[in-house]
Amino acid sequence: MSLSGKVAIVTGGARGIGAAIALKLAQEGSKVAITYATESSAPKANALLSKFPAFGTTGVAIQADFSDDDAPKKIVSRALADLGVKKIDILVNNAGVADVHPIEEVTPEIFDNVFRINTRAVFFMTQAVLPYISKGGRIIHVSSTNARTAMAGTSVYSASKVGVEAFTRVMAAELGPKYGVNVTAVNPGPVATDMYNSAPNELRDFMSDIVKNIPAGGRMAEPEDIADIVGFLASDASRWVSGNVVTANGGLVMM
Ligand SMILES: NC(=O)c1ccc[n+]([C@@H]2O[C@H](COP(=O)([O-])OP(=O)(O)OC[C@H]3O[C@@H](n4cnc5c(N)ncnc54)[C@H](OP(=O)(O)O)[C@@H]3O)[C@@H](O)[C@H]2O)c1
Repeated sequence: MSLSGKVAIVTGGARGIGAAIALKLAQEGSKVAITYATESSAPKANALLSKFPAFGTTGVAIQADFSDDDAPKKIVSRALADLGVKKIDILVNNAGVADVHPIEEVTPEIFDNVFRINTRAVFFMTQAVLPYISKGGRIIHVSSTNARTAMAGTSVYSASKVGVEAFTRVMAAELGPKYGVNVTAVNPGPVATDMYNSAPNELRDFMSDIVKNIPAGGRMAEPEDIADIVGFLASDASRWVSGNVVTANGGLVMM
């Protein structure tokens, strides 16, 4: 499953699931540009990049906040310049924010922020990469089981991920023939990251019982569980997979 010679961008790659994905792609030999938004993630981004030379590859960390409409184009141009390349082979749209609010408490600002980061940025990152995407390239989105479940308090977050899954299908249909790329998504269930650990206690209590019954192991996922699936989707071995959301939740949600 070598990705030697490939060039990847992983959004939100300094921590959590994105960091595990970036590490996996680098371990397979890809050059990787990771993005982060908050200054506090800069040391984490640099610590991650310092591991890449051991795999015979390099990376770059780019600070960009998807609240800024210029972020996608800035990320792509910085990745090309700093990695010294002319093409992108793999885009992983991973950056995201969680949101748990009763419907009565959702403000227009909350609604717009969740969709701006989780849905709109996925679309415009994909658009920004297209002039540079290589034939045989991969665009991989990170959805969530919440796109297919109905947990109270997650209406806005869940809807933002439904949009990501719709993009997966339409982008596969539209971009496959034009650019020779495969577009897929993964849909994690609960993963042990800052995002999950900062969820309200009631939600984590509720999930702890559900997690015990996850068919593939009766446990939470670790970021590496998701990164291995993305590694496959980034590789030539997944050449006959496109337009699909690949289960990345141990069988928690089987559709
Ligand atoms: N953890 C779970 O249980 C779970 C389950 C299903 C799906 N997911 C999805 O998996 C993806 C990664 O989640 P995670 O658990 O790894 O979360 P995380 O640890 O909270 O990391 C979120 C990442 O998104 C970036 N990000 C947040 N706001 C941003 C903004 N305004 N502009 C640009 N980047 C921004 C963060 O950058 P900074 O480092 O700069 O803050 C961070 O790298 C998300 O799409 C999430 O919805 C997670």
